[in-house]
Amino acid sequence: MNPLFSLTGQVALVTGSSRGLGWGMAEGLAQAGATVLLNGRDPATLAERVAELRAQGLTADSVAFDVTDTAAMQAGIADVVARHGRLDVLVANAGTHGALPLPEWTVADWDRVMDTNLKSCFFAAQAAAAPMVRQKSGRIIFMGSLTGLRGRPTIHGYAASKSGLGAIARTLANELGEHNITVNTIAGGYFETELSKLLRQNADLVARINARIPLRRWGSPRDLAGIAVFLASAAGGYVTGQEICVDGGIGTAL
Ligand SMILES: NC(=O)c1ccc[n+]([C@@H]2O[C@H](COP(=O)([O-])OP(=O)(O)OC[C@H]3O[C@@H](n4cnc5c(N)ncnc54)[C@H](OP(=O)(O)O)[C@@H]3O)[C@@H](O)[C@H]2O)c1
Repeated sequence: MNPLFSLTGQVALVTGSSRGLGWGMAEGLAQAGATVLLNGRDPATLAERVAELRAQGLTADSVAFDVTDTAAMQAGIADVVARHGRLDVLVANAGTHGALPLPEWTVADWDRVMDTNLKSCFFAAQAAAAPMVRQKSGRIIFMGSLTGLRGRPTIHGYAASKSGLGAIARTLANELGEHNITVNTIAGGYFETELSKLLRQNADLVARINARIPLRRWGSPRDLAGIAVFLASAAGGYVTGQEICVDGGIGTAL
């Protein structure tokens, strides 16, 4: 493997990697040589997914916690560092959706989306930064969304949470750069996952969206493996504070 993209010897934690985009990025990081820690809320599902990676000859383990339980997440990240001796890459990916007409949003809806998508990522980054500062190197990657940069009706809390990730990444990039830690956000477009299942049941909507995507298709989780490896590897070592759109080009369409 080209050493620019090799993650051999590195330890990477991907939150929300039992399925979907987190799984796609975790598999890509493992295939680039990293020891990958899968995360989600269900230990049994994680054990199955770890076995799938090991069956490919890759190195993987799991750490189950709910990212909205800050104390459990901090303990989980500390456990990863204790077990593996270091933490080189954090992909803060776990997230949830929320779409409601404006009058129907409740405080509980708002808090659920913000706690899962924004607060958790900040505190995950805080916990991961401590060993990275000691190591004098690290990569923090937030899973953002094009909806943090462009408008769409009904997803007020979701869009705000994703927009906030870009702001936190820029702040952390400026604060942690002197420790050789990069912090970036991936702004995803439309991807085929559990999270977008409801949206994809509307065939007319899917056709309209496909017509607007220059590459004429929704992304698959595998489409994020490359950007994750790039940002985690030596190849991406001088890229920080950026919000990088991986969206089949839809963000550029009028
Ligand atoms: N799909 C898209 O089109 C799209 C586009 C742009 C951005 N994104 C973002 O990409 C990220 C992943 O989305 P996805 O589409 O892959 O969703 P998904 O298929 O629903 O997967 C979500 C993952 O996060 C985990 N998770 C959810 N809540 C959690 C919590 N509180 N604590 C720990 N893990 C939790 C889930 O595992 P368990 O349920 O087992 O805990 C699962 O592994 C999200 O941040 C989402 O906003 C998605």
